[in-house]
Amino acid sequence: MPIFSPTSKLHLLPTGRFLRSWANQTRLCVSSFDKSVPSTIEQNRLTKQHYALKTRLGNHVIRAPLQNPSTILDIGCGTGPVTRELGALYPSAHSIYGIDLSPVPLNSTDGSIPNVSFICGDARKIMGLDPRLPTGTADFVFSRLLLCGMTDWPGYVGDVFKMVKPGGWVERQDFEEMFYLRGEKMDGEKEWRWLRECRRCDRGEGIDLDYGRNTRGYMLDARQFVVPYRRDLERPETEAVSKLVIGDPDGYFWHAIPRMVEGLGFKDGEVREMQHAMKKCVAEEEGKYQIFWSTIGRKPLE
Ligand SMILES: C[S@@+](CC[C@H](N)C(=O)[O-])C[C@H]1O[C@@H](n2cnc3c(N)ncnc32)[C@H](O)[C@@H]1O
Repeated sequence: MPIFSPTSKLHLLPTGRFLRSWANQTRLCVSSFDKSVPSTIEQNRLTKQHYALKTRLGNHVIRAPLQNPSTILDIGCGTGPVTRELGALYPSAHSIYGIDLSPVPLNSTDGSIPNVSFICGDARKIMGLDPRLPTGTADFVFSRLLLCGMTDWPGYVGDVFKMVKPGGWVERQDFEEMFYLRGEKMDGEKEWRWLRECRRCDRGEGIDLDYGRNTRGYMLDARQFVVPYRRDLERPETEAVSKLVIGDPDGYFWHAIPRMVEGLGFKDGEVREMQHAMKKCVAEEEGKYQIFWSTIGRKPLE
């Protein structure tokens, strides 16, 4: 049974395509950001990604209809782009925490958003234990692109449920790691083996690459945003996100595949073959798309 009640008035939702290895990669990069020495390339990539996802949602960073929130958590905040936007959007909120396994690099705008602070740690271990995060105190718990960081989504949703006040909101945004062509799944052909193998490996590890789609089973009210693999200048809200994914320009899947299929017994040549096949699979194509999910739920008042 879903533990969050359905809401009658919800709109958007997005999600991103971050495979476990991508998360690992990010984690490594973010670690190197410690002491505020960010890699400019990585920072630029994350800024571009943030802009693309926000634009895809109609220039909204969240969908939850918050009213005068006081305490907000951004779980797996990465370098904190959403946390900082929430700080600016809700200046009267007294505590907005970005939580991440890695330290968050400081930003020149941080002094102007005093209600934002960052906590380094595993959110599942510190929620309810860290003195700043007592259970039942959050008005809103957000996460984006946490797909490959969690291996126990029902457990995570349960922890978040405890963290939220009655009447509080939860939102998560993530890509679905599947490709569609005019409504049909595309992973059947030989060249899509890389995706089938990545999905097989992650199922074994408890990662749910369909979590965006499945989240509604726990939280209700999910909405999907199509990410077209053909640049569509007539739909400006899709342009940046299409550019982000068509052809795998930043190598998300290219670097992810070897890590995702590690341990499945493939030879180097086979892995390289999958990488090259992936490049063709993610090329621009009329009618092809991925889905970015945003799911929001509300804790019942009583
Ligand atoms: C793909 S990044 C997304 C960053 C950010 N949410 C965004 O949209 O730009 C995922 C982040 O989740 C963090 N993460 C994964 N598991 C976590 C956990 N249990 N607690 C806190 N952070 C976690 C990783 O360290 C990584 O920085």
